[in-house]
Amino acid sequence: MTTQIKSLEEYKEAYQRSVSDPEGFWKEQAETFTWRQPFDKVLEWDFDGPDVKWFLNGKLNITENCLDRHIEERGDQIAILWEPNDPTHAVQQYTYKELLAAVCRCANGLKSKGITKGDRVVFYMPMVPELAIAVLACARIGAVHSVVFAGFSAQALADRVDDAQAKMIICSDYNNRGSKLIPVKKIVDDARAIGCDSVASVIVHQNTSDEIAWTDKDTWWHDLIDGQADSCEPEMMDSEDMLFILYTSGSTGKPKGVVHTCGGYMVYTCYTFRNVFQYQDGDIYWCTADIGWITGHSYIVYGPLLAGATSMMFEGVPTYPDAGRFWEICEKHKVNQFYTAPTAIRALMARGDEWPAKYDLTSLKLLGSVGEPINEEAWHWYNIHIGKEKSPIIDTWWQTETGGIMITPLPGITDAKPTYASYPMPGIQTCLLDSDGNELPEKDVEGLLCIKFPWPSMVRTTYGDHERCKLTYFSTFPGMYFTGDGARRDAEGRIRVIGRVDDVINVSGHRMGTAEVENAINEHPNVVESAVVGYPHDIKGQGIYAYVITQDLETDDAFRKGITDVVVKEIGPIAKPDKIQFVSGLPKTRSGKIMRRILRKIASKDTDNLGDTSTLLNPEVVESVKSGAL
Ligand code: WT7
Repeated sequence: MTTQIKSLEEYKEAYQRSVSDPEGFWKEQAETFTWRQPFDKVLEWDFDGPDVKWFLNGKLNITENCLDRHIEERGDQIAILWEPNDPTHAVQQYTYKELLAAVCRCANGLKSKGITKGDRVVFYMPMVPELAIAVLACARIGAVHSVVFAGFSAQALADRVDDAQAKMIICSDYNNRGSKLIPVKKIVDDARAIGCDSVASVIVHQNTSDEIAWTDKDTWWHDLIDGQADSCEPEMMDSEDMLFILYTSGSTGKPKGVVHTCGGYMVYTCYTFRNVFQYQDGDIYWCTADIGWITGHSYIVYGPLLAGATSMMFEGVPTYPDAGRFWEICEKHKVNQFYTAPTAIRALMARGDEWPAKYDLTSLKLLGSVGEPINEEAWHWYNIHIGKEKSPIIDTWWQTETGGIMITPLPGITDAKPTYASYPMPGIQTCLLDSDGNELPEKDVEGLLCIKFPWPSMVRTTYGDHERCKLTYFSTFPGMYFTGDGARRDAEGRIRVIGRVDDVINVSGHRMGTAEVENAINEHPNVVESAVVGYPHDIKGQGIYAYVITQDLETDDAFRKGITDVVVKEIGPIAKPDKIQFVSGLPKTRSGKIMRRILRKIASKDTDNLGDTSTLLNPEVVESVKSGAL
């Protein structure tokens, strides 16, 4: 197993070593895994390409490390513990032995459908154990998984399937989410009607007893695995072979497919899981994320299983059947490590202190937060009402592109200060830059957060468009990975991540490109132009504020609904604008660029100082936009 840091001295030592001898540091961690062929070089890198390779010529299969290597020691330990949406339904569990067998059966099923190494398989599924099983089955046979969050629309699904040129979609019939029943298979059918020509087969997991339409490309999950052998030789993968693609939004229109590879991702997710969560044998670990996001990939599936942990998966939502559900689950399963998002904490905080007070939360040893900056009020509520002021809170900063946690307190080891993600993990060389690219080494300073040196689980490329990877992350400041976030460093060297500095907003911990939402809004036939910005939102962190130019005469609310419907159709309900303001014009520079800075201030009701507007092309619109603000 990768090492587990136990004290501040050990953290400092590990950090020092990771900087002075990064290759030696990661070599030692990597050697704790099962390699079919040892790597002959630790690292080759060039951020200009970018061209980054870890553990060169090493051959491995990540599922052999997640499953097979644990069988002897912990074959009968629970690997995945599943809590259903409906609390009266049965819990499911898979021991390591059972999970290995289930993964192998599914892997053999996938092979029977002609899926082979390198093929892309898109997932569009609820949080059921079969999702984790099939993801691992892909990895077992070397197929590349791309999980699409089941809240995206048919159009968004089709865009991703087409970009990945996926050969198969794995979905369910319906998704139980709170009191809603979401017709997942129907959405897949709709996606296939508008694209998805590369798809040769669709596997449907039966999750409910409701009817669905059937096509000749469809196969039931239970038929796929019926009679399959429960062993399957793992495909030998090169360390740098693709493990998965995960689509994420950026500042330009189309979401990009972030590519992660086998070896480095394995080493880093396991290392960070063990250290950040300080997992001990017998612990029950629960991350509430969805496997449709990177958090679910790294810290529900891969990290915990690589570390031989018991990882809980939850099908439902925090408020069903009531606002006590998370805490009821913590009590029921005696959860030890609990990892969730600030938006969930704020939503539950708003429901009142009586909900957590009803449950016994004494099993909790550690509380985690991820996805967006956690505000001070939510941090304190989490600390007092959930952790009872005895569980350290770890505010973990990272990104889809970083693959694993980058900046975080280590519980009980480094100190935790509210709203600070604190210190970089060993191996992570962070720095702050000014907008000209000069490093700001001093304390008490604010700048653009960059990473100077490669780490094993970093993004390798954006699928099908390497230039875009270079442009997005490696061109702003040559020789650096640019995160897109602004941050401050305090007098003790702790880092506080403030938020995005690009045209990306963070809605309930989900990344949303403003251009993507604008493109959707502009699909409405009566919209002339639109501009989308984020604004502070009590529960979601940031809300979506849309300024829309129209020459339409329809009543405002009907038109607003029309715009919302287009966004839901193009992207999904997660991108619904919270506010839509109709405007006669948008403030623009002489060169025609929209002045988002002004729009952001107006949306945030921060209009005392709008800066100099006299150089605008149309300074007169500022007053009218301001006076019509919602
Ligand atoms: C963006 C990445 C990493 C898993 C979930 C989101 C923001 C994430 C924090 C944090 C402040 C945070 C950043 C980052 N972010 N964690 N602890 N404090 N900001 O993954 O969708 O790739 O979004 O989320 O702005 O760049 P993602």
